[in-house]
Amino acid sequence: MKQDKIYLVGFMGTGKTTVGKLLAKRLGCDLVDVDEEIVSKQQMPISKIFEEFGEECFRNIETQTLVEVSKKSRTVVSCGGGIVLKPENIEILRQTGVCVLLTAQPQTILERVSNDTSRPLLSNVSGVEQIENMLEKREAYYRNAAEITVQTDGKQAEEIVSEILDLS
Ligand code: S3P
Repeated sequence: MKQDKIYLVGFMGTGKTTVGKLLAKRLGCDLVDVDEEIVSKQQMPISKIFEEFGEECFRNIETQTLVEVSKKSRTVVSCGGGIVLKPENIEILRQTGVCVLLTAQPQTILERVSNDTSRPLLSNVSGVEQIENMLEKREAYYRNAAEITVQTDGKQAEEIVSEILDLS
């Protein structure tokens, strides 16, 4: 492992969790999922945190969690899709590891996230246009954070992991 930490970022449904698990296994290193850390720290699901305290509060908890996670070594970190929205988070990602962006077409994302109730920001999504709009708003943030970009449409997790290892 050339980098102390590999951060996986990207929109919801781009495969960060699945790829993160496999990547950590291939590297024989630790894996941390920022959302899972938040859920266990707060003892409530992400949807409940949004509902009870709002998105801003969730974003603050997310930054605190990232600060803690960034102190670990030899770790693959799977980040929540909105981690790139705060410049201070991007600074942490850049300074403490390599940031890998996973991308997917809106239609692929829609297929992967449909019937999922765990993502509050997608709870009212019914068509591909809504995903397109959200992606458009976030595009610049993702590009700003990414040092490496891997497109995931039509690929198996193994293939994506190999690409990340080749590029990082
Ligand atoms: C979010 C993505 C989610 C989770 C929260 C907000 C986002 O993580 O952090 O629901 O703003 O894109 P995943 O990308 O792992 O679904």
